[in-house]
Amino acid sequence: MLVQGNVAAPGDKSLTHRLLLLAGMAPGRSRLQGALTSLDARSTAKVLRLLGVPVTPLRPGKEVLISARGRFERPRQILHCGNSGTTTRLLLGLLAGHDFRATLTGDNSLRKRPMRRVTEPLARMGAQFDGKGGEAPDRLPLAIRGGGLHSLEWELPVSSAQIKGCLLFAGLAGGVPVSVREPSGRSRDHTERLLRSFGYRVEESAEGWLQFEPTGKLEPFDLEVPGDISSAAFLVGAALLATGGGLAITGVGLNPTRTGFLRVLERMGARITAIQTGERCGEPVGDLQVRPGPIYGTTVTAEEIPGLIDEIPLLAVLAARAMGRTHFHQVGELRVKESDRLGLLAENLRAVGALATVEGDTLVVQGKRTPPVGPVRTEGDHRIAMAFAVLGVVEGAQVRVDDLECAAVSFPGFDEVMRQVTGRRGR
Ligand code: S3P
Repeated sequence: MLVQGNVAAPGDKSLTHRLLLLAGMAPGRSRLQGALTSLDARSTAKVLRLLGVPVTPLRPGKEVLISARGRFERPRQILHCGNSGTTTRLLLGLLAGHDFRATLTGDNSLRKRPMRRVTEPLARMGAQFDGKGGEAPDRLPLAIRGGGLHSLEWELPVSSAQIKGCLLFAGLAGGVPVSVREPSGRSRDHTERLLRSFGYRVEESAEGWLQFEPTGKLEPFDLEVPGDISSAAFLVGAALLATGGGLAITGVGLNPTRTGFLRVLERMGARITAIQTGERCGEPVGDLQVRPGPIYGTTVTAEEIPGLIDEIPLLAVLAARAMGRTHFHQVGELRVKESDRLGLLAENLRAVGALATVEGDTLVVQGKRTPPVGPVRTEGDHRIAMAFAVLGVVEGAQVRVDDLECAAVSFPGFDEVMRQVTGRRGR
C-alpha cells in the first residue's frame, strides 16, 4: 500500500492540558490556537468549567478562549476526568493549593490507575485526602482538600511527567518551593519550560534535582499549540511500512524529550528527516519527512523509555516488521497506562501472528515477514488501537481492530487521516 501526502497532526495533548490549566489560573483572558480537541482535552476543559473557569468549546480549527480569575472556585459537582490521567494528576497538583474540597473521578480505565504516586507527596505538602486510615488514596474516586501547603523534596518512584508536573503545579498553586528527582531517564519537560516562561525559577542541580521556586507570576497568554509528535508517530509508522510513497507531516513539536522514538527508528534504519522550522510555546517545531524502507531490530534501553513512553505500542508493531529482534527494557510502567499496555501489546502481536514475549519488565519482539492477520483487542486504549491500525498498511494484512473509535481520546479523525494518506476508501 502506498502512503503519501502532506498532513498535519492534531494539537499536542500534553501542552494542551497544561496550557488550559495554566490559563485557568492566570487572571484574565487567554487564547489558544491549534489546541487539541480530543476527548482527553475536553475532559480538562470540562473540569475547568466546573471550577468556575469559562472555557469556549474545543472545536477543530477554532481558537479557545479561557477567562480566569486567578484562583479556582469550589466545584459544586464531581470533577469527571474521563479517560485522562494527565487531567487528573495535573489538576490534583493545582487543587492542592486551593482551600476547598473537590472530588475527582474517571471512567473504568482511569479508576484502575495508580494515584498514590501523586496523593502521597501532595499529602506530605499538607493536602488532605479522604482515605481509609488516613492513607493517601491510590484510586479514583477521591476527594482532596488543599490549602496551606509547605515545601517538598521528593524522589519520584518512576520517571513521570505527570507526577513531576503535578508536584510543580502544587508548588505554583501553593506558592512554595518544590524539588523533585526522577530515577531513570528524563520525562517530557513541558511543565518546566512553561513555568520558566512565566518567570518561575526551575533549575536542575548537578545531582539531578529539579528545583522550583515560586518566583514568577502567571499572566494571560496567547499561544499556538504545535502538532502532537506522539500522534504523528502513528503516521510515521504507516509511511515506514508502506510499499511506496513518502509522507510529510508538518508543524509538529520537536521537543527533544518527546522525540526519543525518532532516534530509535533511525537506529533501526528508518529514513526520516526532521527539520526545525520555528518555535511555538517556547518549543522547537518542524516538519517530518518519511520514506518507506527496511528496518532492523534494536535494543531500547531503560534510560530511553521516559522519552518515548507513548510510542512503545507503535515501536513494538514496527519491531514486528523489522529484521531481527527488538528488546524494550524496563517497560513495566506500561502496565498502568490506559490499559495494561504491556500485556495487551504482547497478546495482540501474537493474535496477528507476530512473535512477542514479556520477560519480567522487558518486551521482546521478533520481526516476521508474513503479513499480519488476526483480531486486535484494544480495551478502549487509543494507542493500542492506532498502533495496530498502522499494521493494516502492510501488503496482505488483515488486522481487525475491535474499536478504532477510541483513537478520539488523543487523535480525533485518525481513521480519516489514514484513509487520506493511503487512498483507502471508507468502510
Ligand atoms: C504525559 C505523561 C506520560 C504520558 C502521557 C502524557 C504528560 O505519562 O504517558 O500520555 O502529559 O505529562 P506518565 O507521566 O504517567 O509517564
